[in-house]
Amino acid sequence: MNKARKFGRTTSISEAEVAQRVDALLAKMSLAEKVGQLNQVGGAEFAPGPRAEDQIRAGGAGSVLWLNDTKKFNELQKIAVEESPSGIPLLFALDVIHGYHTIFPVPLAMAASWDPSVPEKSQTVAAREARAAGLHWTFGPMIDICRDARWGRIVEGAGEDPYLGAAMAAAQVRGFQGDDLADPERVLACAKHFAGYGYSDAGRDYDPVFLSETQLRNTVLPPFKAAVDAGVATFMSAYMDLNDVPASGNRWLMRQVLREEWGFEGFVVSDAFAVGNMVIQGHAKDRRDAALRGLKAGLNMDMSSYTYTENAADLVAKGDLSEAEVEELVRPILALKLRMGLFERPYADEGLLEQVLARPDHREVSRWAAQRSMVLLKNEGGLLPLQKDIQKVAVIGPLADNKSATEGSWMVFGHQPAAVTVLAGVRAKLPNAEVTYAPGPEIRRDIPSWFESMMAGYSPKPPETPEEADAAFQAAVETARAADQVIMVLGETDLMSGEAASRASLDLPGRQEELLQAVAALGKPVVLVLLNGRPLSVNWAAGHIPAILEAWEPGSEGGNAVADILFGDAVPGGKLPVGFPRKGSHAPLYYARNTTHSPEGSPMYNPRYWDGLPTPLYPFGHGLSYTTFEFSNLKVSMPQVKLGGSMTVSVDVTNTGKVPGDEVAQLYIHQRWGADTRPMRELKGFERLTLQPGETKTVTFELGPAELGYWSTNASQWTQDAAAFDLWVGADSLATLQAEFEVVG
Ligand code: BGC
Repeated sequence: MNKARKFGRTTSISEAEVAQRVDALLAKMSLAEKVGQLNQVGGAEFAPGPRAEDQIRAGGAGSVLWLNDTKKFNELQKIAVEESPSGIPLLFALDVIHGYHTIFPVPLAMAASWDPSVPEKSQTVAAREARAAGLHWTFGPMIDICRDARWGRIVEGAGEDPYLGAAMAAAQVRGFQGDDLADPERVLACAKHFAGYGYSDAGRDYDPVFLSETQLRNTVLPPFKAAVDAGVATFMSAYMDLNDVPASGNRWLMRQVLREEWGFEGFVVSDAFAVGNMVIQGHAKDRRDAALRGLKAGLNMDMSSYTYTENAADLVAKGDLSEAEVEELVRPILALKLRMGLFERPYADEGLLEQVLARPDHREVSRWAAQRSMVLLKNEGGLLPLQKDIQKVAVIGPLADNKSATEGSWMVFGHQPAAVTVLAGVRAKLPNAEVTYAPGPEIRRDIPSWFESMMAGYSPKPPETPEEADAAFQAAVETARAADQVIMVLGETDLMSGEAASRASLDLPGRQEELLQAVAALGKPVVLVLLNGRPLSVNWAAGHIPAILEAWEPGSEGGNAVADILFGDAVPGGKLPVGFPRKGSHAPLYYARNTTHSPEGSPMYNPRYWDGLPTPLYPFGHGLSYTTFEFSNLKVSMPQVKLGGSMTVSVDVTNTGKVPGDEVAQLYIHQRWGADTRPMRELKGFERLTLQPGETKTVTFELGPAELGYWSTNASQWTQDAAAFDLWVGADSLATLQAEFEVVG
């Protein structure tokens, strides 16, 4: 992991100058203006509250969100700078989650690259485009660990593992922010949702979360800590109750953990309306009480619930809150504006965006990122890669030519889906072949998406009638029948994962599996390409379809990247950042479980369910390439390491096949006993390699106190035990090449 960076590093202004200018600003600001800096105004029509212009003119706004209009940014900024009492510039914020105009694979997919340079380079481009549009701040990275694939927002995170998640979190922060907050091609990042949101009960979005301190410290918080160490400028508090305290009023999280323990110097924004929502959640008595709880807990900025601006003056007047407490919350907001150089350069160049969006290298990064993110789940008999001289190819399925499903969820306001679909990618790859297409029956959510319904110009298409669906089904089968090779493109649409998009089942929605079975029955070679934002329980496909490529929601160049991989112009090398359960009801399912008193192989062992295997269909870390690899020569640098000391582990990885390929060497450890029981396996190192046929590379990992220690329930603190350890290195979380070592006192 990268070394901690100094928070908010900037080459253009010294720490001392920042402090002195913040003091000078505070000295001239009224209380109302100070509270205004803590207020984030909604710029969209759906947002409640007074007109943005009026709030800004009165000095009642520190930031504006839900707006994506360069000209309008400049108009509002002019009001802030020239007409508001202290002339403090605004921060313009928006969710730029995996691309502004050039869309990258969704974050779950980027994590599947097991290559931190993928999110880092992608978010560098996203930042450049967003900043050119006039945005200063993105609400990303979303770094919630999630072990329940029913939760729709699993698509936005890095999956189930804290070690991989921490690496991806830091990489995204580096991509968004770069090294210098004054860089005009970067934006402020925001680590969200602090904390525990990925553990909502049974994956139901927004539902309460109960997590022990041990789970929080060992599993949920590491990516957030990594974001702080990477210099992240802002945090966002989560919506839900964490152990009965709403995250937005959670003093322990925001004051003790984030500031006191981790030394975070930036500011925290609430999730949308979350401060006011503490009333609805049954925590705050009224909006005044909600504001007080948020402010006292250390939540700097209220995202559009207006509880701070409505109540802070009264809270101070009645002595519930001091002006000094308000100032403490305002300081980091002003400091960041200064560090960014916003006072010197408040306006966006209105001619810049078009030039930046035209950069061809942005599309190239997107295609590369998509290739590296895809996971080859299965390739029986080496069906893939396909030959480019095939004559008749049928591309079948409701997602085969669906641009928004190819881009995935979370587009910026006004974005028009423009992805290269799989159909278009295959056609471009095979200019001389006959490439036919049939979508088959439509897929749709049983309960429509609230987000879709609030989009401008929303006019829902009536559902297909059963007769129309039958006709579409037959047409798809006939199209497949006439081809020599079938590529099925199935999965979920962009609206089937994301916020408020949880589901109870993980099966392919609609009639997709039935269509897959009917097409497979034709006896043609079938390749299945999955487009989705969460693990799916594709049991039948795993048993019957020879080749399955998990393409996720791959972004603007997704179809080209799929075609590159299917036809061998790129090699697959991604690995699952989350296991694929056999059923939705198996969630939460994760590899880093504790050993039980009746482990697999023991006389008492019984699979945990009598109605099927509880193991994942595809385990964490799984993924194939077009060649084979061997791991050998596993060595630990010393059989015993002292408490607090470090050792190295090395292994040789050889490409034993006939073509070049990518493999990810993964190191897992298990502590055999200790103050607490430890998981049977935990990832503690990984490296993605490209190897030529016959080539061997030696990979070296370091294991020190950071990897060998943990938060102990029994000790109530960070602990490292003197104990024996197993370690494994291999291609997935079931790796068998094993060694041992001991930590001694
Ligand atoms: C989401 C956040 C997002 C915010 C602002 C909320 O509904 O939970 O992730 O950043 O809206 O759009």
